Amino acid sequence: LEKDLVIAIDGPAGAGKSTVAKIIAEKLGYIYIDTGAMYRALTLKALSKDYDLEDEQKLGVLAESTDIKLVKAGEDNLVILDGEDVTEEIRDNKVSNNVSVVAKVPKVRKEMVRLQRNMAKSGGVVMDGRDIGTIVLPAADIKVFLTASVEQRAQRRYDELIDKGEDVNLEQIKAEIIRRDNIDKNREVAPLTEAEDAIRVDTTKLDIGQVVEEILNICQEV
Ligand code: CDP
Ligand code: CDP
Repeated sequence: LEKDLVIAIDGPAGAGKSTVAKIIAEKLGYIYIDTGAMYRALTLKALSKDYDLEDEQKLGVLAESTDIKLVKAGEDNLVILDGEDVTEEIRDNKVSNNVSVVAKVPKVRKEMVRLQRNMAKSGGVVMDGRDIGTIVLPAADIKVFLTASVEQRAQRRYDELIDKGEDVNLEQIKAEIIRRDNIDKNREVAPLTEAEDAIRVDTTKLDIGQVVEEILNICQEV
């Protein structure tokens, strides 16, 4: 590629954003920023402090006083919350099922977006989330909106959790994904929507390699 690009990848849960974004960043030598991990880290902290997740004021203050870093360590992308490695913990189902409630708080979003823009300012970045192409990096060189049927997305998340040895139920996971998508799509600030200038890629019938190839082709064209 002739220049360092800023690549924004958005879409609902289980569309393949983080898997694909990470591979693309590696192939291009770019930094990868998982914005969902930041909202997850903050949610983990709020849960561990037993916060009332309806208390927006308190969550806003928490966001401003929390140190969240995304650190690359060899192959791994570590999530560091107030100096502690929480990479694994933030994937717990308890966090997944509460993160959308924390992420809809305007003050929380304001603080996360500030950190995200700061992380992206050097260019050569792949950032994934829900509002990257619309709000965080509206001038991104490439905006991709990944989708897949909700059945397929639930199946992927299910397979992932089964692999980790968790005792999960497919219908329940599907219901949780639908619920989370609804909160993300209907919140007042920065809802999950496709940017007007995004390229939509339906991954329902594509494997990871095919999705990566499609996005790399888009990068070549730009
Ligand atoms: O990986 P998965 O799709 O399950 O979710 P994630 O990307 O880790 O994001 C978790 C949650 O964080 C989402 O459901 C949103 O509620 C929130 N999020 C957000 O509001 N804005 C972003 N840019 C990224 C995530
Ligand atoms: O970040 P997001 O929630 O959009 O999805 P992900 O965490 O990257 O992907 C969820 C799961 O689906 C992972 O286990 C991926 O390996 C898998 N996946 C897949 O099987 N086929 C794809 N085309 C994309 C993802």
